[in-house]
Amino acid sequence: MTKGVIKQLAALREEINYHLHRYHVLAAPEIADAQYDALFDQLLALEAQHPDLVTLDSPSQRVGAAPLSQFEKVTHEAVMLSLDKCTSEEELSDWIDRCKGRLDNPDALSFTCEPKIDGVAVALVYERGVLTLAATRGDGRVGENITANVRTIGAVPLRLDGDNLPARFEVRGEIYIPVADFVKFNQACADSGEKPMINPRNGAAGSLRQLDPKITARRPLTLFCYSLGWAEGDWQPATHHEVIAQFKVWGLRTNPLVRRVSGLAECMAYVEEVQQQRTQLGYDIDGVVIKVDNLQQQQELGAVTRKPRWAMAYKYPAEEAVTTVEGVEFQVGRTGSITPVARLAPVFVSGVTVSNATLHNMDEIARLDLRIGDSVMIRRAGDVIPQVVSVIESKRPKQAKIIELPKNCPSCDSPILHLDDEAVARCGASHNVCPAQRKEGLKHFASRLAMDIDGLGDKILEQLVDLGRVKNSADLYELSLDDIAGLERMGQKSAQNLLDALDRSKTTTFARFIYALGIREVGEATAANLAGHFKELDLLMSADINQLEAVDDVGPVVASRISAFFADEDNKKVVRALLSAGVNWPSIERHGKDDLLAGQTWVLTGTLEVMSRNEAKAVLSKLGAKVAGSVSKKTHQVVAGPGAGSKLSKAESQGVPVMDEAEFITFLQAQEIMTIDLPVLIDRC
Ligand code: IVH
Repeated sequence: MTKGVIKQLAALREEINYHLHRYHVLAAPEIADAQYDALFDQLLALEAQHPDLVTLDSPSQRVGAAPLSQFEKVTHEAVMLSLDKCTSEEELSDWIDRCKGRLDNPDALSFTCEPKIDGVAVALVYERGVLTLAATRGDGRVGENITANVRTIGAVPLRLDGDNLPARFEVRGEIYIPVADFVKFNQACADSGEKPMINPRNGAAGSLRQLDPKITARRPLTLFCYSLGWAEGDWQPATHHEVIAQFKVWGLRTNPLVRRVSGLAECMAYVEEVQQQRTQLGYDIDGVVIKVDNLQQQQELGAVTRKPRWAMAYKYPAEEAVTTVEGVEFQVGRTGSITPVARLAPVFVSGVTVSNATLHNMDEIARLDLRIGDSVMIRRAGDVIPQVVSVIESKRPKQAKIIELPKNCPSCDSPILHLDDEAVARCGASHNVCPAQRKEGLKHFASRLAMDIDGLGDKILEQLVDLGRVKNSADLYELSLDDIAGLERMGQKSAQNLLDALDRSKTTTFARFIYALGIREVGEATAANLAGHFKELDLLMSADINQLEAVDDVGPVVASRISAFFADEDNKKVVRALLSAGVNWPSIERHGKDDLLAGQTWVLTGTLEVMSRNEAKAVLSKLGAKVAGSVSKKTHQVVAGPGAGSKLSKAESQGVPVMDEAEFITFLQAQEIMTIDLPVLIDRC
């Protein structure tokens, strides 16, 4: 009996780890979130029946360690070095010459180049493949044990895969927050009144410093592994790029831009290429690191004063600039949050002209001791809204003006409230009164992850609200062609397109609908949980606090927000009006089609224009089909979008059936595949 259970547990863990790796490390999930959740629930249920069989490396054990009172100190088995830096081709050339001068065989010198991630360094120790320690760099000799926090990061494998793993070894890497997640996190903070992160690096550092791993678990952390600390066992890699390739095979996340080069010219080409891409990478970097590739040669070169002679950071010019604060405006968000924004004398930073910077909240203004008229250092990190880093006090003019929170909302003039337990101040009026909140709420309603109303841009919404034509989201569906065509910069044709888009958006999913309502603190994930739990709108609307708290991730605060939202007569009226305007979604009952395509192999090729590739994969694997990367005689069906090339011709020459995306969606519709995971797409073809 136990043997069977052990096998079953091992299989489940392996399957879950496989999907975690696909999702977090390869960014190519094969199953939908709901399917993953079902597997995870199965594991939890089985482990609850057999608590003695729970292992440290089980995916169920990522979160759950009790809060610490302080972090334990850890002495690194090999010192964590820092990097020497240069900022010009001449300096890099000098360094290469110095390396050559010290090596027995300088002709064999080649390098590995990689981005220098602006995050927090970490050392991960794996013993017999299992993660046993994660430590910060500290002073390079002694760091802190942050294992419980690092275990919560999905991209960090708790167990590595491979039959050639060293008995014990240490991986080094950089933990960071992707720029898009940083922006999203801060938006959610503005809604909930929590303190936002100052920048992605600060956010990553603060998240790892939490004594309670449950808090870290909610932060969007990930990592890139960039070097080997030390290893015990048989593994004898010859080069750094071999180390990185092996990491990848074992399941560790490595940077896709790592490249082996030789000579100064190739190093500089890499430096310039990555600099070009810098703002589009999706994560912050402050340069590139150039490392001598051969590990023997690294040893030969050694280190001086905590910096290896075999590596060099080529730092990009700081994305910082000095400018003056000409004024501060207060913006009103969807939930009434008031965000101060500094209006700056325009300044050119890393390729763009910056003329404003977010100040987050009044606490941040106090922390910076910022006044109007001050000279400030601003920083642009990736594509993020610029930040004020510091005030240059020596340049403060005599007439510099203290910044005060206005007493009244700049949009509706209602009193502004600043609750003691919230970092954020709020307009005290509801969105029914405050036009700014109304506009922001409508922008949210129309946004891509909500009702996805194509062509309903901010400017159009603002005009519609200012004209009094749209007061709430249901009014959008009452708009006539004349209403829209009469707006600035709108012709008959684009007005008709917008009407069509509004019409298409009426068919949605229950989860999107809940998210679109803009209930405070109900983001995409919570909306999906609520949809999956209640399945029907009436049940959600009438749920009491206890019933709401039974939903995953819904605590007392979120439950009370939902309950208050649906208790409000105006909100109920809008929901009813939306339904009578024709907003609808298919029932989310499952239809027992889970093995319809069992045993079949499908291939997706070309661009899918309506569904995302992940959605298509998820739905196919839900139906039991395997999705393969290439066409063979064993392929049952190819779905080809525009731009399909060799796979399509191969399918045609081998007689494999081919359908286009519209046919694929019609096929799915015919199967009544209606789950919360599959947005309803047919009308959007
Ligand atoms: S190699 C001796 N590679 O930069 C080699 N470091 O200034 C030491 N960093 O503490 C590290 N990206 O936190 C290396 N691709 C990369 C890196 C990287 C970021 C950080 C690391 C280190 C700091 C040194």
